[in-house]
Amino acid sequence: MSLFPPGCSEEDIEKVYLEAHQETKIGFTNSGNYFAPNLKSINHLEVGTSKVINSFFVRAVEYLLTIYQRFLSWLKRKYHGLFPRKEHIIGHAKNAYITGRLTFAKRTDYATPIHHVPLELWARTRWGAWRLFAKGETDKNGVFKLEFDYILSRRWRYSSFHFEIYQIQHVFFDQNDRKADVRLELFERIKIPKGDLTGLGYDLGNLQLFLWEYRDDTMLPRVVIKDHEEDAPEYYSEGRNNAIQQQFVPIQLTKDKHIIQIKKDKAHISILDIQKDYPKNLTVAMEEKLKYSTRCDYWFGRRMMNGMNSATFVPDAEEPERYWVRYFGACDYEVNDEYAFPTVEIKFHIAPDKLPVPERIIITGPVSIYDKSPFQTRTFTASDGESWEHAKRVVRVTGALSTELDDHFAGTHGNTEQFAIAARRNLRKSPLTTLLFPHLKEVALINHAADTILIGPGYIPRASALTSDGIEQRVTDMMGTLDWKNWEPMEIINSRHTYAQAENLFWEVVEEFVDSFFEQNEGGIIKEWYEVFKFSEDLVNNSVPAFHERKKGELLSPEEQEFENKRVEYYHARFRFDPELPRRVINGVKKSVSPITENPEEPTIEDWENLKQACKYIIMQATFMHTWVNEHQYEDIGEILYSSLGLRFGSRPEGVFLPESDYSISPDLTRATQMMWFSNLLSRTEYGFITRNEENDIDPLFAEILERRRPDFKALYVEIDNIESRTNI
Ligand SMILES: [Fe+2]
Repeated sequence: MSLFPPGCSEEDIEKVYLEAHQETKIGFTNSGNYFAPNLKSINHLEVGTSKVINSFFVRAVEYLLTIYQRFLSWLKRKYHGLFPRKEHIIGHAKNAYITGRLTFAKRTDYATPIHHVPLELWARTRWGAWRLFAKGETDKNGVFKLEFDYILSRRWRYSSFHFEIYQIQHVFFDQNDRKADVRLELFERIKIPKGDLTGLGYDLGNLQLFLWEYRDDTMLPRVVIKDHEEDAPEYYSEGRNNAIQQQFVPIQLTKDKHIIQIKKDKAHISILDIQKDYPKNLTVAMEEKLKYSTRCDYWFGRRMMNGMNSATFVPDAEEPERYWVRYFGACDYEVNDEYAFPTVEIKFHIAPDKLPVPERIIITGPVSIYDKSPFQTRTFTASDGESWEHAKRVVRVTGALSTELDDHFAGTHGNTEQFAIAARRNLRKSPLTTLLFPHLKEVALINHAADTILIGPGYIPRASALTSDGIEQRVTDMMGTLDWKNWEPMEIINSRHTYAQAENLFWEVVEEFVDSFFEQNEGGIIKEWYEVFKFSEDLVNNSVPAFHERKKGELLSPEEQEFENKRVEYYHARFRFDPELPRRVINGVKKSVSPITENPEEPTIEDWENLKQACKYIIMQATFMHTWVNEHQYEDIGEILYSSLGLRFGSRPEGVFLPESDYSISPDLTRATQMMWFSNLLSRTEYGFITRNEENDIDPLFAEILERRRPDFKALYVEIDNIESRTNI
């Protein structure tokens, strides 16, 4: 076993990579939409060869459903067209008013006022027409007073009155003059019988709104979604739904077909059959062209550095040109008995302007059913022959699960949601809505879906060592290593470190964009500083505990202490978390996220810089950082035997150190098809890209700056048209 396949060189692998990448990359149309939004395109998607996918019945049902949905939308538009709403206020006198106060609704939140909420008072005529009587908003205390013309309101023609509460639905930009606008949507309508408006003042009392409420059943800052179809704080855009629907159906059907086959006769279906039914991924295509090209040490180092994991290489304390990558496995989280999840540490040699070459692998933790002691250790070197190959696979698998949970789910999905909730609860009049909302939309919805499909009772607890409680605890811990303050892009090791170069380049794009936005919107942001203050308060107060203090006060054994220290140190480097910053302590718990401002009236110079940095961080995480890990799932965990989210202990004394041909440790058939479904679905249904700007919600300046750097990104293997504007899959 060697650095390259026998008789091959670096050039041979790079050639095979470029060809396979071209062959397997996910295609886009040029229409501006991700896949044409009609059913016909399903036939053109590369989603395997299953007969079920191509069945006429499926296509016919899909087609009828689309027609029906379009008919319903048409009907709705026609109905609203019959009763247009004119936006001008009728009546001149302001001699009557309705008043009241808006607060959040949750038991622990009902005393919190909701500021700057857009409000309207409408009358309905006896023939159904709408007339606007007053417009206004709540003040800082959530109090409102809408004045209207009393005499006019008493006229016979008006039969009822309606108090309406709005929230921002969409931000969109005029692509020529860069002017941003917001579209409001009705959040709640309260009918006021005409008979009640007899006095000059009418008090609606304290209205409690269930608006972007934090969940109480988890330590994570998550929003309550009672029903994602009918009672969600936001909804997917139509384009997002189309992209999901069109890609989801064939992938789902392929998986369902396998499940039926497994149930009926599992002797006649194998992991290889399952693999073949899904589209070819990068590693499968490379192996077809050149055997061992993806299992060799060269590819191992290349992908650890520049693949989905984009690992952090920490310099060795003593040896020059040596670096360590660490993936922490089960640790003290709840696990099942079926899968191994050891901690892995890999020592690499990185020569000047070369890719990392693995030299040693240290594996800590249970690897077979015979010994479950948590600190047992095995060491492998490149001269260990077959067992070195097995150890590399164990690293790939532990690395994949760690990356999924720590970097993908906690680092981008969970991280972005915490900003989305605080932003949607507090930003309304500030120009920051137009800067941030396009990048924060839909993340709460996709996280809600992930709770069921992937995390709660879903796929990951069945296909890996961690239970759903274990995942929840781990994600909470990982969020404790995330903070916007003092964050900076990854350090570039050398010219072959293309991932870090791309991350730095994108950070420069974000910096230029955000700096320009702040210059142009300085007055507006300062004028509505109170909103920033409240945004910051929600963010900090609802953030999880800082990770490095989680074992505070616990008596640890020397082994546990050493392990814990190593973990803390690595995560600080990985997530560029500054543990030295003073952080807010609430009920004895140190909060992970730093305040942007503690001044409700106006910013200090430091506050202003804080806000800029926080906005850059938010956009960076929701766009580039998420896109990277999400789109590369398909390449790095799209081949069942190459890497999965878990290797089973099996029953042999060797445990997980067995060849790929031994299916007793690989995912079983059901998990195998679920794994392919999972990685294909997530990587293939991306929608909402910065340069494609499908929904006119991207600031043209952002796309323009990115466009200028197109060749630079291309040289780093990054296609800018594939960078998503938001975390929504
Ligand atoms: Fe994702």
